Amino acid sequence: MLHEAHHRQVRSFVRREGRTTAAQLRALDSCLPRFEIAAAGPLNFDLVFGRRAPLYLEIGSGNGECTKAFAERYPENNYLAIEVHRPGLGHLLNLAIDAKLTNLRVALRDVYTVLPQLAPESVTGIYVFFPDPWPKTRHQKRRLLQNQFFAELRTILHRHGRLYLATDSASYAAHLDELIPNLNDWENLSGTGLHAPRLKARPPTKFETRGLAAQHLIRDYVLARRAHPTAAEASNLFTSANLNAARS
Ligand SMILES: C[S@@+](CC[C@H](N)C(=O)[O-])C[C@H]1O[C@@H](n2cnc3c(N)ncnc32)[C@H](O)[C@@H]1O
Repeated sequence: MLHEAHHRQVRSFVRREGRTTAAQLRALDSCLPRFEIAAAGPLNFDLVFGRRAPLYLEIGSGNGECTKAFAERYPENNYLAIEVHRPGLGHLLNLAIDAKLTNLRVALRDVYTVLPQLAPESVTGIYVFFPDPWPKTRHQKRRLLQNQFFAELRTILHRHGRLYLATDSASYAAHLDELIPNLNDWENLSGTGLHAPRLKARPPTKFETRGLAAQHLIRDYVLARRAHPTAAEASNLFTSANLNAARS
């Protein structure tokens, strides 16, 4: 596929393993198989979780503070954390085990390999918090939040779903403020160029804390899919409007 070919050359991450603690290694060795989704093929989350419940994704979950907090606070939802950074995912697995979470699964790989496994309109909410900012002009093509990525997210998001973003990078926010109004399929629920209030349940993450220490302003966004009626729906609307007009 075109996006895969493009993505193989331009990745949104650099695999820096950093230090993996003994506890993270233990969690990865012993618990990853229990939490990890299948590496290929379409995913049926009713079977994966053994129940039907709204599905939420966190993309680039880092150390997993947000996914863990949401999964614990909203046991009625299912959560999938997607992250390429092994120590971060090991950290989340430890949080999940301590909190005895049963409504969490993970994918330790590039989100671009996970999205094609998800059925259209199967996801209720998507979180992308503090994506790598790639501030240098020559690196900005690596930013995750680009036209193509929004198009892929729209396909899997339920028509009443929401996409939640946050960044502490002024340059990323400027990029989003320019990009979002030009996305025909998405609507910024706060209005063009405006930012959303912080989600109450969103805990500070490692990267947010770092941004705040550097006195960066945090900007949140909430986007919805813009509704485009199909030709059939549009003609039905038209017909019922005519009928109503004729009746009145
Ligand atoms: C700046 S960190 C923020 C992590 C976390 N959300 C936080 O606020 O602390 C961005 C994360 O996105 C992950 N990431 C970037 N591109 C990714 C991709 N294509 N697939 C999965 N994870 C990705 C990186 O590994 C990194 O951990």
